[in-house]
Amino acid sequence: MIERPDNRSYKLRGARATLAQSTAYENLWPKYGIPMEGVIDPAVVFPEFGTRIMEIGTGMGESTALIAAHFPDVAFFGVEVHEPGVGSLLWRAEASGLTNLRIIQEDAHIILRDHFPDASLDAFHLYFPDPWPKSRHWKRRIVQVDFLALIASKLKDDGYIHIATDWIEYAQWIQNVFAQSSLFNGGVIERPEWRPLTKFEGKGIRKGHVVTDMKYFKN
Ligand SMILES: C[S@@+](CC[C@H](N)C(=O)[O-])C[C@H]1O[C@@H](n2cnc3c(N)ncnc32)[C@H](O)[C@@H]1O
Repeated sequence: MIERPDNRSYKLRGARATLAQSTAYENLWPKYGIPMEGVIDPAVVFPEFGTRIMEIGTGMGESTALIAAHFPDVAFFGVEVHEPGVGSLLWRAEASGLTNLRIIQEDAHIILRDHFPDASLDAFHLYFPDPWPKSRHWKRRIVQVDFLALIASKLKDDGYIHIATDWIEYAQWIQNVFAQSSLFNGGVIERPEWRPLTKFEGKGIRKGHVVTDMKYFKN
């Protein structure tokens, strides 16, 4: 029995996948999917790569697939809980012929806590995490003191996390949580030109949201 975190950082949704997503799931999971069994060692999964990055919450996988295509020498683990999103990313991976991407379907807390060795990743990407705007839901925001401790333990020396959010209050929350921690140093950065503008981000910008990119290095 998996011990789940008390406050899920994602919304529970029905798995309403389109036909294309469920077909991709059936056909492509064996090729790109990593089952949640035993130790998942990035150096064993991707022995031929020098840099290994985990993206937490890939959503529909639009930017994940574009970033993996942009950096063919870097290995990526895409993590998402929702099956339609995983189906969509599987389809994109196949369409782009990606050989540097594997996908894990589970809560990132559980994957990291129970399956990834310490000091095994070079970086995390966390793009547009659910902002949980209502104060009674703030405990569900993924960026918390405990989350920082968890990711710090899985990063190698000089490892980092790159975060982007279009929710200004969440950007401030993230900066406060990191400011209180001795595990990381960093702050707001310019949006890197390689980070693609996704449909999700475009929608936020059209509503007048300001996007903040932040990068924090492990101390
Ligand atoms: C607001 S969406 C953004 C998706 C994508 N990064 C983008 O920019 O379009 C956040 C995603 O993170 C996923 N998520 C949230 N908490 C997670 C967790 N603990 N483990 C894995 N995925 C998570 C959600 O299911 C959701 O698909």
